[in-house]
Amino acid sequence: MEDKKVVYITGGSKGIGKGIAQYLLNKGYRVAISSRNLEEIKRAASNLKGDASDILAIRSDVRDPADEKNAVKSIMEKWNRLDVLVANAGVGLFAPIEDISTEQWKNVIDTNLTGVFNSVKASLDAIKKAKGYIITIASLAGTNFFEKGTAYNASKFAVVGFTQALMLDLRHHDVKVTTIMPGSVSSHFDGRIPSAEDAWKLQPEDIGEIVYDLLKMNPRALPSKIEIRPSRPPVKK
Ligand SMILES: NC(=O)c1ccc[n+]([C@@H]2O[C@H](COP(=O)([O-])OP(=O)(O)OC[C@H]3O[C@@H](n4cnc5c(N)ncnc54)[C@H](OP(=O)(O)O)[C@@H]3O)[C@@H](O)[C@H]2O)c1
Repeated sequence: MEDKKVVYITGGSKGIGKGIAQYLLNKGYRVAISSRNLEEIKRAASNLKGDASDILAIRSDVRDPADEKNAVKSIMEKWNRLDVLVANAGVGLFAPIEDISTEQWKNVIDTNLTGVFNSVKASLDAIKKAKGYIITIASLAGTNFFEKGTAYNASKFAVVGFTQALMLDLRHHDVKVTTIMPGSVSSHFDGRIPSAEDAWKLQPEDIGEIVYDLLKMNPRALPSKIEIRPSRPPVKK
């Protein structure tokens, strides 16, 4: 029997990343999840429902290329394979340009854009060997710009561009690449706390379902960019 496939999800301690991890565990994958805080990522791993031997918690800051290399090293040491990267870790910043400091700007770009680059670079050899899949979690903010969105829009437009170019590079190596661009998802994003009022939003497992559908798709088919939004948002008055 073939070994279970291994998925590495950055930013997996909560929100969308954790939802993807749970969905894929339910479907028989092994999952490695990472975030900046060791205690939180360990707690998230212990809260996932599944066989503990199919779950790995890693402390890694995607802004640091050495952290990402070590994350992939520990996955390879544990399972000796890496089939799928979900580059999900990201932060929000919504403020007028006058209020955005250079430090804040750097943090958004370093996390949302360079962090994706770092996790892709660290995973590339293993994923090419596996003829696997790279999925980035961008946003509808990667195609629609809005007020107070300079930093966030810039980071997500760039992730969409990066991912589409990456797709063109890697399809010749039998590696699929897709960017998922969600609208509002109930999560801890930008300091929010998921609540009953979020019922109209997408739920993290909805993004998990898309990831699973992509992984199961016929090898000849490649949806390279997916927009997904809540079907019934509140009507704006
Ligand atoms: N929620 C939405 O409406 C929405 C819509 C479209 C796209 N997105 C995108 O979806 C992705 C996930 O967001 P979410 O909504 O799930 O937010 P979330 O609930 O705040 O989760 C973000 C995750 O990223 C981790 N993270 C943040 N900075 C990191 C870093 N430097 N290195 C490693 N991990 C880091 C966080 O853990 P630590 O803080 O402990 O490191 C956490 O696990 C982001 O890229 C976001 O832009 C969200």
